[in-house]
Amino acid sequence: MRLRKVKGAEEKVASSSFVAHNAKENKGKWKQVFGNDKPIRLEIGMGKGRFITTLSKENQDVNYLGLERFQSVLVRAIEKREEDPEPNANLLFLCEDANDLTDIFEEGEIDEIYLNFSDPWPKARHAERRLTSGTYLAKYDKVIKKTGKVVFKTDNTELFDYSLESFQEHGWKIDSVIRDLHNSELAEGNIMTEYEIKFGKLGKKICRLEASR
Ligand SMILES: C[S@@+](CC[C@H](N)C(=O)[O-])C[C@H]1O[C@@H](n2cnc3c(N)ncnc32)[C@H](O)[C@@H]1O
Repeated sequence: MRLRKVKGAEEKVASSSFVAHNAKENKGKWKQVFGNDKPIRLEIGMGKGRFITTLSKENQDVNYLGLERFQSVLVRAIEKREEDPEPNANLLFLCEDANDLTDIFEEGEIDEIYLNFSDPWPKARHAERRLTSGTYLAKYDKVIKKTGKVVFKTDNTELFDYSLESFQEHGWKIDSVIRDLHNSELAEGNIMTEYEIKFGKLGKKICRLEASR
């Protein structure tokens, strides 16, 4: 992905109280960070944060973490929260790479993972970079509770089919498959991401799956 540098992003991310800094130091202590015992759900590659910001406002009985590796993207999510007169305390952002998940979270520390419109990495030689490759599923397997699940949405049917296979190949159960989310029974409660809005307007069908162990 080509990324435009945003002036001041580094400073803004470093000084924001909406960001959990030095995330690796909180490994095994995320409940303490939130100061309560609520379940913790994580979005990986949250981009500008529309999905997790909306979801966390609607569900105050759950804690949410939004992980994004680029400061220039994360800063947009921070700016939007700064405009909120009543920002909710059950959401924190992390400026981290999903590669480091097992350094950030203890085994079973996360209840649910959301992957929304993850980069497709279409070339076969880059397949291991996909967030639903075996490499990443092994990390999710560690950090997610045994009863936890992964929820994945994408407009990209090749990535979706690859992901269905990948989950099953690595011992996950597929609990739900929808190939046209916006015209399904889940459409009403569905919170759209920035990419989802864009692709939905182009008439693309949105696919969604849920996987568990
Ligand atoms: C295609 S965008 C989708 C953004 C958002 N989820 C949405 O649906 O609007 C993918 C995002 O995932 C982030 N990302 C990709 N790989 C990542 C990784 N390994 N760790 C953290 N973030 C990652 C990218 O920086 C980018 O912001």
